[in-house]
Amino acid sequence: MKLTVVGGGSTYTPELIDGFARLRDTLPVEELVLVDPAADRLELVGGLARRIFAKQGHGGRVVTTSDLDAAVDGADAVLLQLRVGGQAARQQDETWPLECGCVGQETTGAGGLAKALRTVPVVLDIAERVRRANPDAWIIDFTNPVGIVTRALLQAGHRAVGLCNVAIGLQRKFAGLLGVTPADVHLDHVGLNHLTWETAVRLGGPEGEDVLPRLLAEHGDTVAADLRLPRPLLDRLGVVPSYYLRYYYAHDEVVDELRTKPSRAAEVAEMERQLLEMYGDPALDEKPELLAKRGGAYYSEAAVDLAAALLGGAGSPYQVVNTYNRGTLPFLPDDAVIEVPAAVGGKGASPLPVTDVDPLYAGLMANVTAYEDLALDAALRGGRDRVFRALLAHPLVGQYAYAEQLTDRLIAHNREHLAWA
Ligand code: G6P
Ligand code: MN
Repeated sequence: MKLTVVGGGSTYTPELIDGFARLRDTLPVEELVLVDPAADRLELVGGLARRIFAKQGHGGRVVTTSDLDAAVDGADAVLLQLRVGGQAARQQDETWPLECGCVGQETTGAGGLAKALRTVPVVLDIAERVRRANPDAWIIDFTNPVGIVTRALLQAGHRAVGLCNVAIGLQRKFAGLLGVTPADVHLDHVGLNHLTWETAVRLGGPEGEDVLPRLLAEHGDTVAADLRLPRPLLDRLGVVPSYYLRYYYAHDEVVDELRTKPSRAAEVAEMERQLLEMYGDPALDEKPELLAKRGGAYYSEAAVDLAAALLGGAGSPYQVVNTYNRGTLPFLPDDAVIEVPAAVGGKGASPLPVTDVDPLYAGLMANVTAYEDLALDAALRGGRDRVFRALLAHPLVGQYAYAEQLTDRLIAHNREHLAWA
């Protein structure tokens, strides 16, 4: 089996490698190709990847290259984890929206739109080259914003599934609190990428007993503290929102915080500097502790599980993925991309049925779906007016005066990445 990681020079990659090494029985990778335009990073990350494989007795070959077409040639699955413009672009996304009193975040709000506009054309070009090399290859997309990017891929007819680690992170967290193994925890997870709610926590599988009320009664303080939302709010909702919902439910509070502290991009850039220095140490042969300070916990396990299921091997039968709605959530268009548990196998992902969704959540999902639709239109066709429409539609923007200012700032800060600007 040949697997290719686009953006393989990411400082995150050792997390992935560690997962491939530990879970090699689930996903027997013979050739792992790390492809990245940043040759210096690739060298450092590739070296560590080889040492991790060697230490863990993994016989797979790690290849590093900056030649995308060679990298994807013959690949069974291609993982996309790239960041157009790097942390410098993220830094911008997290900063200029604050000038208008709006949240500055890499995937949510105006910053997320900027990221979508930079990213969609690049990802579509890569996907086209993957398809040319092997029309049967699966594309697993981690590249944010995952909902919009996955929709772009599916609309262009690619064999793609979008993936995020929020659900697997909560599954692991809840399993720990309940004292059971993660595989025994099935989440009724519903929404769009980075806009999800856990409406039930079931033991044993999709039909299992719902222990969410017990979880909240016994561990509500822990869950609330993790989300940085008030416990009484959780009790009133009776569901667990993802931590991205804080940008909505506590928007102004977050904006005040963000204005007074260094951006996440700046923190991450500093961590990346330290990580790359560590990766260059020939004595290092495991993923360093510092990597746990990044947001990507368990993403390697989610990736292994998904790739294994798609490539017809092992892997959990039900996994939370991003895929077409196709009637699962009747209040959203069929071609919306939703994030829900799905049956996953060699033919792809098909969402499990979802029972009634409270209008409290359905309304926000519908609103953000409309935004994502307009965001994708802006990413594919460009133009100031399309950017403005997407921003006006976003529930965290909404007012025309803000939408105008944010449009100007978005274009000004991203000109070098936007072919039409
Ligand atoms: C979580 C999200 C990812 C996001 C990451 C950011 O893992 O699911 O989509 O990229 O957090 O983490 P970072 O360490 O870069 O802030
Ligand atoms: Mn994510």
